[in-house]
Amino acid sequence: KTRRCHASVATSYIRETSDVADLDWENLGFGLIGTDFMYVAKCGPDGNFSKGEILPFGPIALNPSAGVLNYGQGLFEGLKAYRKTDGSILLFRPEENAIRMITGAERMCMPAPTVEQFVEAVKQTVLANKRWVPPTGKGSLYIRPLLMGSGAVLGLAPATEYTFIIFVSPVGNYFKEGLSPINLIVEDKFHRASPGGTGGVKTIGNYASVLKAQKIAKEKGYSDVLYLDAVHDKYLEEVSSCNIFVVKGNVISTPAIRGTILPGITRKSIIEVAQSKGFKVEERLVSVDELLDADEVFCTGTAVVVSPVGSITYLGKRVEYGNQGVGVVSQKLYKSLTSLQMGVVEDCMGWTV
Ligand code: COI
Repeated sequence: KTRRCHASVATSYIRETSDVADLDWENLGFGLIGTDFMYVAKCGPDGNFSKGEILPFGPIALNPSAGVLNYGQGLFEGLKAYRKTDGSILLFRPEENAIRMITGAERMCMPAPTVEQFVEAVKQTVLANKRWVPPTGKGSLYIRPLLMGSGAVLGLAPATEYTFIIFVSPVGNYFKEGLSPINLIVEDKFHRASPGGTGGVKTIGNYASVLKAQKIAKEKGYSDVLYLDAVHDKYLEEVSSCNIFVVKGNVISTPAIRGTILPGITRKSIIEVAQSKGFKVEERLVSVDELLDADEVFCTGTAVVVSPVGSITYLGKRVEYGNQGVGVVSQKLYKSLTSLQMGVVEDCMGWTV
């Protein structure tokens, strides 16, 4: 029997299976656990995406000459679905991911699905895989939309065909430290992005290029790397996989969006949550000296949520925060954000779907 099916078929298939997949929900990390289905839509030279299909999750065929494989013409997104105690499933600001994909696609000379197509595709994919959404409090379903130049090219040019895929995986904490503070090293050799480059969009190449510094840092026992700006080597940019915030008294500062750091959706949400809690939030140039002098430091991202930073090492000097415990501000913001995301409190921001 063929397993190729459209969304409605996938949904009825799921109804016949158990409500929750048979997994060790207590020990989820951030690794791929393949699920039942993925979403696939194609776009030809007319720039319009086909009505997507829900297909069995698995390998895809690509021409060796595909634009994404040869010239890195690809973008990805990340968002999460949480299971509420009543069994219903919540998405967090999916239209923001859709908008960011459209912005990134413009920079990478790619067509993108509309906001409506993107959000509908995310909903279909999550519903088809709903038994993989962890029970309340055990984690979330990480949703990974991909947009790639799948058409063949040889000379350097935009691909002639594009593929939009969404796959999902149940996840727990991103860092092996769990919710405990992470230890970062400020990178003094490599840079992540430069003015005029692609650091401000979620293109796949931004992530391959940070692997080397991350590997070296991990070998030395650090959780990850914090990058400085490429012009002055002085101002904070971002960590390989998340944005950074520094707390001094009642003021929370974070690097401004200037084209070299990712405009994180969790970053944006935390700014609004912090302001609603009475903090003064500043988006500006934040120097490494201010970082070393901060009361508290934390990172934000879809995968990392709000991760407290326990120490920063810069040019051999190590500064510790919060006696290795979770800082009060990070704790408060983590709680406020996740309560909204998980539907524990009423969503007065209108962010959940
Ligand atoms: C996310 O937070 O969703 C990201 O895209 C970071 C990724 C490197 C896991």
